[in-house]
Parts: sequence; structure tokens; C-alpha cells
Amino acid sequence: MVKYNKIAFVIFSLVIILVSSCRKDPKITPVSASPYSFDYPAIISEYLPPIQTPNTNPMTDEGVELGRKLFYDERLSANNTQSCGSCHLQSASFSDTTSYSIGIDGIAGNRNSMPLINLGWMNSFFWDGRAIGMENQVYQPVTNPIEMHTTWPNVAAKLQQDGLYPALFLQVFGTDVIDSVLVSKAISQFMRTLISGNAPFDKYLMTGSSGWNAIDEQLAYEGFTIFMDETKGDCFHCHGDSYNPLWTDNSFHNNGLDVFFTDNGRGAVTGNAFDNGKFKTPTLRNLVFTAPYMHDGRFTTLQQVINHYSQGLQNSATIDPLMKHIGNGGSQMNPGDKSKLLMFLISLSDSSFVSNPKFADPG
Ligand code: HEC
Ligand code: HEC
Repeated sequence: MVKYNKIAFVIFSLVIILVSSCRKDPKITPVSASPYSFDYPAIISEYLPPIQTPNTNPMTDEGVELGRKLFYDERLSANNTQSCGSCHLQSASFSDTTSYSIGIDGIAGNRNSMPLINLGWMNSFFWDGRAIGMENQVYQPVTNPIEMHTTWPNVAAKLQQDGLYPALFLQVFGTDVIDSVLVSKAISQFMRTLISGNAPFDKYLMTGSSGWNAIDEQLAYEGFTIFMDETKGDCFHCHGDSYNPLWTDNSFHNNGLDVFFTDNGRGAVTGNAFDNGKFKTPTLRNLVFTAPYMHDGRFTTLQQVINHYSQGLQNSATIDPLMKHIGNGGSQMNPGDKSKLLMFLISLSDSSFVSNPKFADPG
């Protein structure tokens, strides 16, 4: 009897030890990550204020690295087939090469994926600006039924099972309990580092030399004057000028694509018919890598974009007053002006950005 009691006691103790070692006590420690410091391209430190990060999400080297890993992690989708990087390819300046990105169920959305560059100076996200604040933006693709189509508790549970993530979250955020808030913070940290500002035209503005041959450099410069000329390109109102390295006003306009809208854009967010057909002005950086163009990817080449502004403008009730050539269907640029304008647009593409190993899939 005594013997049996002893054995029972030993078994009982073993069970207790096993159970308690399986139960996960959340670990909480002070954050042990090193503050991240931005390395801005010359033109950006010259003309833009430093990126303001939210107090609730200070940037660290390890946080950026964790965000990069998560950005490329397919476990953020229901069937583990799609990561953020699937629709935001570095080779395409973090946009997609198809008009409409295809989600995990093979269903296409109705908008063109957007390039992810210089987002740290942006406050409203998506073509219609419906997400305010980068951290809030990150929640949407994961649960979007035609994108990653899953739930945050599912994602958090999968990441929690991983051999590495809990320790990384502990180091970066001081807790190893993974949730949507921390995932979104880490991904936002990574996305804030996606800074582009070393295009030939940037070098030209900063040093007087683009690195191109003299003829092409001259053409690009003349293209810039057409861009600024109100009787020709007249582009700068919305896309900015040489003092604005973002090459966008980050505001919403109707640039004359349609007479009737199949997508109300900003209007569907504000509920104001005055905003129908308005979309966020995209940056003109890295266009060489980001085709197709416009919110629905309707143009496959930059020549088509230029022809749109030159002679393809469509009038509608919400056309932007800055589309001053609407009466003539466009500013009717001659072929020489168009090719100079094209050269200027090409000169805003930064190939060091699309090949920067710091932004690539860490594997
Ligand atoms: C299925 C393809 C797809 C996936 C996966 C995807 N995106 Fe996107 N992304 C898009 C599309 C399409 C848009 C434009 C949507 C719109 O305007 O409604 C977009 C827009 C964005 C924007 C807005 C950029 C701007 O300039 O306003 C950000 C930021 C972004 N995505 C980040 C992410 C992150 C982070 C993830 C992963 C959590 C992700 N995306 C996953 C297709 C995708
Ligand atoms: C009234 C403001 C406005 C003016 C002026 C304007 N644009 Fe735009 N541009 C926009 C908006 C808004 C979009 C996005 C429209 C959409 O997708 O519905 C856009 C889109 C583009 C795109 C597509 C970029 C991408 O990533 O899809 C290019 C390229 C472009 N514009 C170049 C130009 C050029 C060149 C000029 C001058 C000839 C010009 N724009 C004049 C507002 C403007």
C-alpha cells in the first residue's frame, strides 16, 4: 500500500511538473533593442523634416528587422500562401505588376497595388485615404476577404507557435505575447525605412550631375521645365516640384480619367458626392518599376499616361480645377515635349532602392 502511494505520488508530481512546464507564462522584460537612426538621402534631408514616428511605436533596429520578417511572412494569410510582399514586390518598388492584385482565393481586387515608398511622410493610406495612420493601415490587408482573408487571432496564434518569433517580440516590445497591435507596429517600423531619394534627377539637383550622359540629362531637365510649364505639362500642382522630394501632394484629386465612375474613390469614404472620382495623388518616383498606372492600373506605359494628360482628359462634375486644359481635352503637347517629359519621369527612378538588400526578404 505504502509502495503504491509512493508511486502515485511520483506520477502525480511528474504530471504537475509537465503541466506547469507546458503552461506559458507571458514573459515581460524591459525592451532591449537599440534605437534606429534614419539614413536619409541627401535631397530628403535637405527638403523634408525628419520622419515623425508615433510615441507609441519608437523605431529600433530589431523592430525594423522583425517588421521585415513579418512583411515577408506568408503565415499572415489564411492558407499561408501570401505575404505583404506578394503584392508589394521590391523589384516593383513595392507595388504589383498586374492591374489588380490577386488575393489568396484567386479573386482579384478592384485596385492596383500601391508602391510603398516614403510612407513616413504620409498620414492617410490607400487610393481613397480610408486608413489614417500607418499602424491602422496594416490591419486591413490581413482581414480583407479578397486579400489575405484571415483573422488576427489566427495570425497571432500561428506566429506564437513559431520557434523564433516569441523571443524576437520579447526583445523588441518587452513581451512575448504576440498580437495584432505588435505585428502592425513592427511592420510599420519596417515600412518607414522604405525611403527612396537617390534617383538620377535627385543627384542632378543635389550635385549638378545625374550620372547620365549629357544628352539624356539635358532632355530630362527640359522635361522638368515642361512638367512645370502651365501651358504644357502643368503637372506640378498635384505632383509637387523640385522642392518636394515626395513628388506628390498626398491629397485627393480627379485627374480626368472618366466621365462616369465605376469606383467613387474618396467619395465612398467621405460620403460626399463632391469627392466622387477623386484618388490620392501617387508619387512620381520609381515609375520605371511600378507599371501599370492609376488606381485601376488602366495604363501599361508612361507614354499612355502622358497621352492621357495631353489629349485624353475626360470631363465630369468633380474634375479638379487644376486640370486647366480640360476644355481642350488636354494641353496638346507636341511629340518632342512628350518625349522630354517622359525622360524627366524616368529620371525620377531610383534603382538603388529596388536592389537595396536591407529591404529584401530575409528568408
Ligand atoms: C492581395 C494583394 C495585397 C496584399 C497581400 C497586401 N496588399 Fe497592400 N495594397 C494592395 C492594394 C491593391 C492596395 C491599394 C488598395 C486600395 O486603395 O484600396 C494596397 C495598399 C497598401 C498601402 C497603402 C499605400 C499608400 O500609399 O497609401 C500600404 C501601406 C500597404 N498596402 C501595405 C500592405 C501590408 C503591410 C500588407 C501585409 C500586411 C499588404 N499591404 C498586403 C494589395 C495588397
Ligand atoms: C489635378 C492634379 C493632377 C495633375 C495636374 C496631374 N496629376 Fe498625375 N495624377 C493625379 C492623380 C489624382 C492620380 C491618380 C489618379 C487615379 O488613379 O485615379 C495621378 C496619377 C498619375 C500617374 C500614375 C502614377 C501611378 O503610380 O499610378 C502618373 C505617371 C502621373 N499622374 C503623371 C502626371 C503628369 C506627367 C502630369 C502632367 C502632365 C500630371 N500627372 C498632372 C493628379 C494629378
